[in-house]
Amino acid sequence: MRIKVVLGALVTVAAIATGVVIFPACSSGMPMPFGEEEDVAFADAVWKAMDGYEMWKMQSDVYPGGTPHGMFVKLYYNMVTVDGTPYHVIVKDNFGGEGIDLEMVSADPATYLMAVTIMVQREAGYDADNNDWFWAKYMADGTVDKNPQGMMLAGRVAKGMDMGCIACHANAQGGDYLFTND
Ligand code: HEC
Repeated sequence: MRIKVVLGALVTVAAIATGVVIFPACSSGMPMPFGEEEDVAFADAVWKAMDGYEMWKMQSDVYPGGTPHGMFVKLYYNMVTVDGTPYHVIVKDNFGGEGIDLEMVSADPATYLMAVTIMVQREAGYDADNNDWFWAKYMADGTVDKNPQGMMLAGRVAKGMDMGCIACHANAQGGDYLFTND
C-alpha cells in the first residue's frame, strides 16, 4: 500500500517557509518543551526501534519536497515499540545535494539523505495542545540534530515559538498536524 501524497499544501506552506527552527536557548534552568535529556533518549530509542525502516511496507516514492524539508523527500509509516509501548511513527527522509534530480535520488537514496524527520504519536497528555506529537530531526547517521542555538531537536519542537515543527505543522488541515492527508 502506498501513502497518498498530496502536494498542494506543500506548495503553499513551503512558500511561506524560510528555514529551519530558530529561537533563543533558555538559560533559566526551567525544563524546556524539547531538547531535554529524556527527549533525546526517547528519540534515540525510536531510532533504534525503527531500524530498517527503508523496508517498511507503507512508504511513498521519492517526490519533490520544499523548505524546510529536502529538495526531495520520501515518507514511511509504521508502528514501532519503545519500552513495550507501541507508537504510530511517520518518518520523512529529506534528500538534498548539488544538481540532484528525482531519478538520481530514487536510484540511490542513501547517498543523498541529508536528514530524517519523524513524528511520533505519544500517549494522551504528552502535549495535549498539539495532538500529543513528539518531533525529532536526525542527521543521516541517526544522531539527533541541533538548531543553530545548540538545542537538540527532539521533543515538543518548538512548542510556543512562532517557527519550527509545531508552528508550521499547525497549518495542516483538520488540526492533525499532518500535511500528507490534506
Ligand atoms: C515551515 C514549515 C515546516 C516546518 C518548520 C517543518 N515542517 Fe514538516 N512538513 C512540512 C510540510 C509542508 C510537509 C508536507 C509536504 C512534504 O511532504 O514535503 C511536512 C511533512 C512532514 C512529515 C510527514 C508527515 C506530514 O505532515 O505530511 C514529517 C514527519 C515532518 N514534516 C516532520 C517535521 C519535523 C520533525 C519538523 C521539525 C524538526 C518539521 N517537520 C518542520 C512543513 C514543515
